[in-house]
Amino acid sequence: MSEKTLFEVKEEHLDTGLRGIPTGHCPTSKVDPQKGLSYRGYPISDLAYKDPEEIIYLLYRGEFPTKEELIEFKNELISRSKLDPQVIDHLRSLPREGHPMKWFLSGINCMGLVSSKGDYREDFLNLISQLPEMVAAIFRIRSQWGDTILSKPELGYMENFAQMLSPPQGSQHLTKLMRIFNVLHYDHGGGNLSTFVGKAVASSLADIYESLMGAMTALAGPLHGKANQECLRFLKTTYSKISNPEEESAVLKFVEELFHSGGKLYGFGHAVLRVEDPRATVQYELGKEIAGEDPYFKLALLLRKVGSEFLGQQEKISNPYPNVDAVSGSLLNANGLKEEDYYTVLFGLSRCVGIGVQIVYERKEARHGKGTPIVRPKYIYSGPVR
Ligand code: MLT
Repeated sequence: MSEKTLFEVKEEHLDTGLRGIPTGHCPTSKVDPQKGLSYRGYPISDLAYKDPEEIIYLLYRGEFPTKEELIEFKNELISRSKLDPQVIDHLRSLPREGHPMKWFLSGINCMGLVSSKGDYREDFLNLISQLPEMVAAIFRIRSQWGDTILSKPELGYMENFAQMLSPPQGSQHLTKLMRIFNVLHYDHGGGNLSTFVGKAVASSLADIYESLMGAMTALAGPLHGKANQECLRFLKTTYSKISNPEEESAVLKFVEELFHSGGKLYGFGHAVLRVEDPRATVQYELGKEIAGEDPYFKLALLLRKVGSEFLGQQEKISNPYPNVDAVSGSLLNANGLKEEDYYTVLFGLSRCVGIGVQIVYERKEARHGKGTPIVRPKYIYSGPVR
């Protein structure tokens, strides 16, 4: 370990959410302000269309699998994929009014109750193998889409998920969308809130189910994972407020008025990125293929241009570009998943993969296998001195 000073903590850094303060190593992914996200050194734009199982393998094992290794890994996920029926019974007992993220948390807790083995690797692989069935059941039971649909894991990780979802409106592109959405959201460096929280909880040696519940609770916040549902709501309201939402000048006028009245342009900016989020770039391109005629997608495309140009002219805006949430909701909505309340659950289904791998790293591999110690930052007392 070198003696190099990475960061000097000054008083001004207190109460700023640890913004930018290095706290550890993240072997799985990097968020470069200029280049955006990469998994194990590969830019996300090169990975987005690959098999989800291949990318999970890449994140978990650090290298791409050979053909044989991929087949073996897919079979391993299939062999672990049977969800305990008690979890489905538990979901059936939940109040339907509760937000789907609360269902998701409750579902993970129940999975831990019936399945935890207390071994990080085992639990991680079991959890991610079974999560698609649990999430599909949340959609179907809570939205009253009918009975849950039999899991057919041999179809493929996201292929099976899409068939277990089968939204009533149907969608010919849902499988493709789920594959790409899933891959794009696996991991985003070590310091996003849910990942940080998940690792912090695991540092107490809480098991992976408990740790991911902590992580997913953080993801449920509107400033983090719930931003995707808020972005679609924003698109819907904006669409209804603009007389001609397909006209650039009308959208620009709306953006100007919104900005000058102190309103928020949802889906723009990011804590780390200083370019358009490559996860958004992938989805804009995908959207042209699978949601090209959708009004909200068209509006998202116009906002991408108009919003970035306008925000780019404002002095105080350090990142005027769209992030991953600016467009994802419009694609989900155009492809049969109409209720935006569920979008964070889809994000969580995916992000449990990256956080899970990072937890395995911190518990089993970091510091030559000793693992990182329990998280215990220092807070400076600011109350009265008596
Ligand atoms: C994420 O994917 O976690 C979000 O972009 C938030 C973040 O990175 O801070």
